[in-house]
Order: sequence, then C-alpha cells, then structure tokens
Amino acid sequence: MTGTNIRLSKCSISQTEKDAVMRALNNEYFGMGKEVQAFESELKEYFGCEGEVICVNTGTSALHITLACLDIGPGDEVLVPSLTYVASYQAISATGATPVSCDVDLDSAFISIEDARKKITKKTKAIMPVHYASNSLQIDAVYKLAKEFNLRVIEDAAHSVGCERDGKRVGAIGDILCFSFDGIKNITSGEGGAVVTADQTLAQRIKDARLLGVEKDTEKRFSGERSWVFDVNHQGFRYHMSDIMAALGRAQLSRLDFLKQRRQEIALQYFEGLNMNSAIELFNFDYKNICSHIFVIKVKDGKRDALRDYLQDNNVATGVHYYPNHFLSKYKSEPLANVETLYGQILTLPIHPDLTSSDISRVIELINKFGL
Ligand SMILES: Cc1ncc(COP(=O)(O)O)c(C=O)c1O
Repeated sequence: MTGTNIRLSKCSISQTEKDAVMRALNNEYFGMGKEVQAFESELKEYFGCEGEVICVNTGTSALHITLACLDIGPGDEVLVPSLTYVASYQAISATGATPVSCDVDLDSAFISIEDARKKITKKTKAIMPVHYASNSLQIDAVYKLAKEFNLRVIEDAAHSVGCERDGKRVGAIGDILCFSFDGIKNITSGEGGAVVTADQTLAQRIKDARLLGVEKDTEKRFSGERSWVFDVNHQGFRYHMSDIMAALGRAQLSRLDFLKQRRQEIALQYFEGLNMNSAIELFNFDYKNICSHIFVIKVKDGKRDALRDYLQDNNVATGVHYYPNHFLSKYKSEPLANVETLYGQILTLPIHPDLTSSDISRVIELINKFGL
C-alpha cells in the first residue's frame, strides 16, 4: 500500500456547524420548531422557488411521503431508472405501488424516455427521474412525456443540492423535487431530506403527513405550540425533521457556496486530468454548473474491477453507483441493456470538499499509470 488513505466520500464540518448544533442543544427543544421553520425558508430562498419546501427526516421519506400524499398505492405503477439507489425503489414499493424498471441513456445514465414511453400502461401514475451524479439536463423530455400521459413527475434530486440547470437552481421549478441531506450529500443535516413543490394542496398534505397526519400541526409547532385536539383524515408518518438536524443543515447551507466550489474544482480537475485517457470514458456533464455529489468514470475493456483493486491497493477508496435494482430479488425484471453495460464499467472516484488538489492529482496519476 502506498500513500495516505483517500476516502470516497464524507461530510465536511467546520466550527460553524458545531456552534449551530450547540445552539440547538442549548435550546433544549429537539422537536420540529423554529430551526426547521428557518431552514425551510432559507432553502426556499436558496432554490429561488415559488412553492413550498417541506423538510423531513431522510431523502427516502421525502420520496415516500410524496408518493403516499399523491394517493399512489396498490395497483399503481411508477416509472424509475434501474440505475439508482435502492431508496428510490423502496419509496415506491412502500406505498404498495410497483416500481417499473426503465433503461437509461448510455451517455448520461439518465432515464431513457424511449424505454419509459414503452412501459407506460393504464396503471402508470408517475415517473421518477433520478439526477444521476447530479445531472438532470435531460429533464425537459420527462416533463413532455408526463404531459402527454398525464403523469406526475417526482424528481429524485438527492444528488442535486447546489446544482444549476438552464440558468436556474435545481429546485426553482418543477412538479415535485425530493432532496437528500444525508451525511455525505452536498449539504447534510445528519440525515434529512426535503420535498419542494408548488402544488399547494400536495404541500399541505405532506406537511400534515410528516407529523402523523395531524392537521395543521406544522403551523402550531412553528409557533411553539402543539395540537391537543385535532383531526386526522389521511395516513401519516413520523417523518418530520428535528431542530438539531435543521440547525446543522442551516450551517451547511450557509457554507454551500464554498462546499460547491470545492466539488466543482475537484470534478473539473478529474475531467481535465482523465479526459485524454483512452482506457476510460467520462460523462460529459455540465461540471461548471452542477455540484457533483459523485464523480463517475466508465472503465473500458472489462477492466473496472482491476482498476478498483489497484486503487484500493494504493489506499484510494472507490465505489460503484449503483447495483441495478432490476437485479434484486424484490424488483427482478427483464434485462435492461444500457443499465447492464454501464454497470460493468462504472467506477466512482473520491469526491468531497476536504480533498486537496494534490489528493486528486494522486488519483489521476494512478489511473493514468494504470491505463498505459
Ligand atoms: C439517488 C438517491 N435517491 C434517494 C436517496 C435517499 O436519500 P436518503 O439517504 O437521505 O434517504 C439517495 C441517498 O443515498 C440517493 O442517492
């Protein structure tokens, strides 16, 4: 083994985050209160969105609560690309609906519109495009398809905090977007997530549903009260975000410009350093405008696992995003050619704001040496 250990991903925490968590602890109120309220309004301002931002306790619950509040359930189908984290699938099947595995485009790993179109049936209620590696430039085609077939669009934007597309922040527009703030995402609240939507009826349903369906409980808790006599009309969940999480999330959001800059610098350094290597292929994403949560390369000629082992031997951790969901026993389906091709090639390189440019140079050098 040579070189110091380079981690694949991690959070980046400064004194600002530590002070914020201490502030929340000193309040001795750990429920959903003023910190969550402030985090939601700061996120709304950051995204530049007209609609509502509703914070919940994970990105998975953001997806699940959205589907549940759209009354999607048994007998319904939701289109989803197989190349995603199992969270997208579990969120769909938790409602009783069926995730319908779709292929992806080879050059973007984004859901294939052609394949999705083929899989639409009378039961299809929604499409869940995944912002794979923070890219969602192909989203317009999804909205076009959704309009044609009257589908709801739930963007799995777990990777996309801090991204821009078409000159607007991701989160500014769209039917429904679900973000994740888990420990290694572009910003973290420990665990956490948010739903962003301009659909006011849906937003109110989600606000109630995150606190066990207790109607208007969010409004009460934000003013320091709670509901003692109330009504419940729909299934709810215990998915609210706590003030401790929100305090951490707010501190991270205040540092997002810096965290984003580091992720962009790293992605561009990889792109420039590896672009000429003919043994690999890169996704040609808009690295100057996205905030890369993961940096994925495609390794040709069946050498992915050999490169992975070689990097591991040199103390560089890598990952494979993702094991296709249609391979899993619970979600088994017909083969998906592009997903399977990509799965044989993809390798995720280390990216997080605390990596230095000399760390990245070392990874690039190792890969280029391996490719010769
Ligand atoms: C594509 C994708 N969707 C959904 C999720 C779920 O987010 P969380 O881990 O916050 O539940 C993740 C997070 O890992 C993800 O990568």
